[in-house]
Amino acid sequence: MPATDRFREELLTTFRTFFAEAESKRRWNPYTDIPWDAVNREAPESLALCAETFMAVESFLPDYVSGAFSVIRESSLGQRWFTANWSYEELKHSIVLHEYLVRSGKRSEEALHDFHAQLMGRRWNVPFSTGRQMTLYAIFQEHATFLIYVRQEQVALAHGDRALAACYRFNARDECAHGRFYEAAARAYLEEDREGTLRDLALVAKGFRMPGVGIVPDYDRRIVTMREDAHIDRDLFLKKVFFPTLRRLNVTRQEIAAASAASRREAQDAGGTAATG
Ligand SMILES: [Fe+2]
Ligand SMILES: [Fe+2]
Repeated sequence: MPATDRFREELLTTFRTFFAEAESKRRWNPYTDIPWDAVNREAPESLALCAETFMAVESFLPDYVSGAFSVIRESSLGQRWFTANWSYEELKHSIVLHEYLVRSGKRSEEALHDFHAQLMGRRWNVPFSTGRQMTLYAIFQEHATFLIYVRQEQVALAHGDRALAACYRFNARDECAHGRFYEAAARAYLEEDREGTLRDLALVAKGFRMPGVGIVPDYDRRIVTMREDAHIDRDLFLKKVFFPTLRRLNVTRQEIAAASAASRREAQDAGGTAATG
């Protein structure tokens, strides 16, 4: 469905608000704004392993950017401009974790260059095919990442590493702002086509996976460490990310269940027609 003028205008207004706030309150520099002299070089390896895992997930930026532009480039100017700015902010999340790993002495530059090269041997593919679906996916992904970074900040502080805690704090603040932009976009999609957006929301919720799954080497083992350290699992995702998002979008669980049932019925009918036709 082509975007209406109202949708385009709303997204542009949302972008302007987002960008003004980013420029005035959220700009930061990974090289100069972290108290690098407060790195705890004696902190356990699990902290470095987690930082390396998140750096790895953030490092698929080329795929995220090309994927995002491929699904929203026709949609609206506000979304295109947001995506360009978002890319810059995401870039800093990789930079700052890379810096931490080197400055803490946990990894050498050489090892990290090899690791980055290894990562680029794999590719992240867009998990959903439309701008609307990817916008909904991004809400959950950004808020989940926000939650992870906030937890990791606590873990870093508990190990006396104020530098790493600051890395996570800056990253978390950006992720939260990204999640809020995508939520505003989702509200505009709901205004345009509530039924279709609810169906997409049900689809995305059902198939949701964090972006690192399947592309970061040893992801499962790494995630065990993260869960042990920061106590994050699916229940927490539902409680802290999924249901609060529905509430903020003013969508009920019943609506999601009904949209999901309608999509299932449609698929069955289509299957029946194909079998008999
Ligand atoms: Fe990020
Ligand atoms: Fe983000």
